[in-house]
Amino acid sequence: MKALVLSGGSGTRLRPFSYSMPKQLIPIINKPVLEHVLENVRALGIVDVGVIVGDRGPQIAAVIGDGSRLGLDITYIPQDAPRGLAHTVAIARDFLGEDDFLMYLGDNMLPDGIEEIAADFAAERPAAQLLVHKVADPRAFGVAEIGPDGAVERLVEKPAVPRSDLALIGVYFFTPAIHEAVAAIEPSTRGELEITDAVQWLVERGAAVRASRYEGYWKDTGRVEDVLECNRRMLDGLEGRVDGDVDAASTLTGAVIVEAGARIVGSHVVGPAVIGAGTLVENSHVGPHTTIGRDCVLSDTRLAYSITLDGATVRGVSGLHGSLIGRSATVGPAEATGRQRLVVGDHTHVEVAA
Ligand code: G1P
Repeated sequence: MKALVLSGGSGTRLRPFSYSMPKQLIPIINKPVLEHVLENVRALGIVDVGVIVGDRGPQIAAVIGDGSRLGLDITYIPQDAPRGLAHTVAIARDFLGEDDFLMYLGDNMLPDGIEEIAADFAAERPAAQLLVHKVADPRAFGVAEIGPDGAVERLVEKPAVPRSDLALIGVYFFTPAIHEAVAAIEPSTRGELEITDAVQWLVERGAAVRASRYEGYWKDTGRVEDVLECNRRMLDGLEGRVDGDVDAASTLTGAVIVEAGARIVGSHVVGPAVIGAGTLVENSHVGPHTTIGRDCVLSDTRLAYSITLDGATVRGVSGLHGSLIGRSATVGPAEATGRQRLVVGDHTHVEVAA
């Protein structure tokens, strides 16, 4: 069994962060989303992983490396442009060989794991086994119509009028039967080779295609709101740990991780929260549901339900909530002149007090 993890894609919904980093490297509890995905893959006993990358491939390789740190053997497979999920299967043909494989979108979080569904697939080996999840608006997804026994009767990519509320959530198990289907389909109206169409091709030819309802927590981390919400969910499961320094004038409440080299001075940190290595938190109130990256500085600041990426500085600002602050960004109070000054990048979103 191999895995194909998809980490191309331009991440337009995650601008401005995706201008400078691949969306799969956005941190959730200070670990890239892609690393959470790869840990889920490893938990199934899979070692051989092909990672599809676009033009941000070098950045991904710089963080993930050859996979040995995660117990994996990673092969990077470049895709020249986002030409569809089925296209990634086609370009990974040599890597995949005649093995069964798990295909997994590299920006989807399923922290409750997929061991049971993987075991079902291994026992029955249908041509395809798809993970589906009930969603409020299925029109943005591939949609599955399934029979009472879990057999897939029909799949449609992003239907205008969905006939079911079960969405494909970006995790698929395949036998090599998928390769013939991928070779047979034509690009969709959006110009992509859709994996949904390839699986529908199998359904039409009578192949065994099954859907498993994934009842655990699932989040596509495609937008800032999703990243914050997923970070909140992951923080809720954490146990506190103090490897850094907390001075006598500070208090930690609830589950707080203070990483090595972090310093908490005259501050109150309310868990669940993570304070990254090398960060200074001074005269501030942080949390709950907040992750501060590495080598950040927070002083005279109140911040909750937020994430700061590595190297960010926030000084003298209170009432920050629901914020995602980029790498080495600085946020601070206006000068005494009373003028407010913003230097914000393309597609940045700022809300200031009136
Ligand atoms: C892709 C698939 C779609 C699936 C979705 C899950 O959509 O085409 O079937 O439901 O991932 O996130 P895309 O993100 O390419 O629009």
